[in-house]
Amino acid sequence: MSSQTSSHNGSAPSQILSTSLRHWDDIPSADLRRGYALALESGKVLSMPDLAFAMGSAELPLLDPALVDPKRKNISLNGTTGRVVGVAVEDARRDAIADLIRRYASQARSLVNAVLPHYKEHLHSPTTSLRLHRVTDWKPSWRKDDSRLHVDAFPSRPNHGERILRVFTNINPTGEPRKWRVGEAFPSLAERFLPQLKAPYRPGVASLMKKLGVTKQVRSEYDHLMLQMHDRMKADLEYQRNGIQESVDFAGGSSWMVFSDQAPHAAMGGQFMLEQTWFLPIKAMAHPEHAPLRVLERLKGHALV
Ligand code: SIN
Ligand code: FE
Repeated sequence: MSSQTSSHNGSAPSQILSTSLRHWDDIPSADLRRGYALALESGKVLSMPDLAFAMGSAELPLLDPALVDPKRKNISLNGTTGRVVGVAVEDARRDAIADLIRRYASQARSLVNAVLPHYKEHLHSPTTSLRLHRVTDWKPSWRKDDSRLHVDAFPSRPNHGERILRVFTNINPTGEPRKWRVGEAFPSLAERFLPQLKAPYRPGVASLMKKLGVTKQVRSEYDHLMLQMHDRMKADLEYQRNGIQESVDFAGGSSWMVFSDQAPHAAMGGQFMLEQTWFLPIKAMAHPEHAPLRVLERLKGHALV
């Protein structure tokens, strides 16, 4: 099933690379692996249109937004503590959901071990989410609105340049696509937005935020820039409408992988998805010069962490 479609705005090359992976532990040839690593680390989305997550018929009733705690956006598994949070019910469905999410976490891990073995020893702090709400039913403030193109940056979790690697799988049983927009490559994005990021970095304020528990670590200048970039992108309606971008449909039964701190992305439609996140130190990359930290440091002319 290869139902991914992609349409372009402008003449920029596509940021989507399609693969023929079918199983979570398929090991591609060394040549393919090198190509996938270069594409991914350059900020492309690695699309796996034939990689589905198998669910039993007894699991299908779990695809119900009423099972999500109304105070949370998603159900999630903290892979470090093993805790699942965000389930609204106390019955057997809670264990069934936990089993499903853990199975996905384990398969996503097999995928990365097979396709990107150089990351194996370095990935850390895994979290997994089960997203049951329809994308368009979630109406947050503009800053949290993921239907606007953005790069991921977490306000309370500074990462000092470490990478945010994500695997997504559309588990919609009717095949309804997850509709995304994907923006331009990070260097041209950074050149566009860096001159607009005017708030000065204040180490004293960053330390205070850590002391008060607003952030888990001290924000570095890198984190300060990435958060501003996230916000400037979302606030810029001209960029949202006319910036370099392409539309892509990820069909039910397909998966994709991306460094979401690097590739501008926006979720426009769809329902029912699993998602796995890890952090990855830059030293584990085959091409560390493509990391957003290195790109921003070249443009700014000084170290940012
Ligand atoms: C996001 O990561 O910004 C949203 C992805 C999605 O819900 O499809
Ligand atoms: Fe995002």
